[in-house]
Amino acid sequence: MRRYWQKKPLLIRQAIPGIAAPLARDELFELADQDEVESRLITHFRNKWQLEHGPFAADELPSVKQRAWTLLVQGVDLHNDSARALLDRFRFVPDARLDDLMISYATDGGGVGPHFDSYDVFLLQVHGKRRWRIGAQRDLSLQPGLPLKVLQRFEADEEWLLEPGDMLYLPPHIAHDGVAEGECMTCSIGFRAPSTNELTAQFLYYLAERGETSGSRDGAAPLYRDPQQPAVSRPAQLPAALVDKVGAILAKIAWSEKDISSFLGTYLSEPKPSVVFDPPEKPLNEARFVKRAISQGVRLDRKTVLLYDNLSFYLNGEKSRLADVKNWVIELADTRCLSAKRFVTLSQQSSVTALLHEWYRAGWIQMGELR
Ligand code: SIN
Ligand code: CO
Repeated sequence: MRRYWQKKPLLIRQAIPGIAAPLARDELFELADQDEVESRLITHFRNKWQLEHGPFAADELPSVKQRAWTLLVQGVDLHNDSARALLDRFRFVPDARLDDLMISYATDGGGVGPHFDSYDVFLLQVHGKRRWRIGAQRDLSLQPGLPLKVLQRFEADEEWLLEPGDMLYLPPHIAHDGVAEGECMTCSIGFRAPSTNELTAQFLYYLAERGETSGSRDGAAPLYRDPQQPAVSRPAQLPAALVDKVGAILAKIAWSEKDISSFLGTYLSEPKPSVVFDPPEKPLNEARFVKRAISQGVRLDRKTVLLYDNLSFYLNGEKSRLADVKNWVIELADTRCLSAKRFVTLSQQSSVTALLHEWYRAGWIQMGELR
């Protein structure tokens, strides 16, 4: 992190020796056929780049015998526990920055063309071989008229052939081009970095929702009043008094550090729009749930985001006070599980078991420790 993160590329040979693809090719194709999964097909047939968005029925993908196509499946960690487990190995970076695990499948010669990304990425080879060429070029102009971002003038400074277990880290804006040599699969561990515009817009929205910006005493936001308004001959002109008054309202907007962390906690733990939790069909009652948890432990569902700060925790976009649940919530958040052994001590506190049972019924936690 000190030497490379957000600074310069790093090739790590055998970062994860003996790694296997979290999913087999056919399982990946099945995911790409689901409505709630984001997938893209990129073909480079007869020197022409084409892009299509999924879902793709099995017979809508080109034959695996055909050269030069690639299937990208986004957010595989949300749908597969092995993919989630692989993503978890990158939690040396804070969860607040972690985005998702994408898997690309390519036939010989397949790739997405030379391009750059705005976000950091770890490119982990999990099956077959891919040749990566990278360059720290300044000229980031794109080929016009293409459905995907392909650099106009790509110049590579370095080149490597990655084999299963090898990994390449790229900070934002490093040009890169990965071409499959034979059939291959690559996992992209991606990060999120909100733009200042997005943060500003979302924070102002949060402040407005918080409802304290207007300074009203009765809870209802006061309305604009203008008892001094004279009759006008230019009705379309904005009244200067209105501009003044709104200026005074805006100048009074104030926030504390607590507002900033509450905003960030709820905003960053908000599930992605496509996320739907799967509550258990026949949930155990609380007594049975506790009994099961004492023998098996519990873990966060792979889709759950749980963050915390000094005072609060943020579970899938909802803020709650840490208070007397502090110790175990922090443990659950950092390790994503509570062991069976740990649960034996917790099971004495009914407020804890009631809360965990509620989360279990919502599909936010699952029975069993992490595999
Ligand atoms: C790929 O895995 O084919 C593309 C990933 C990337 O270049 O960002
Ligand atoms: Co890229």
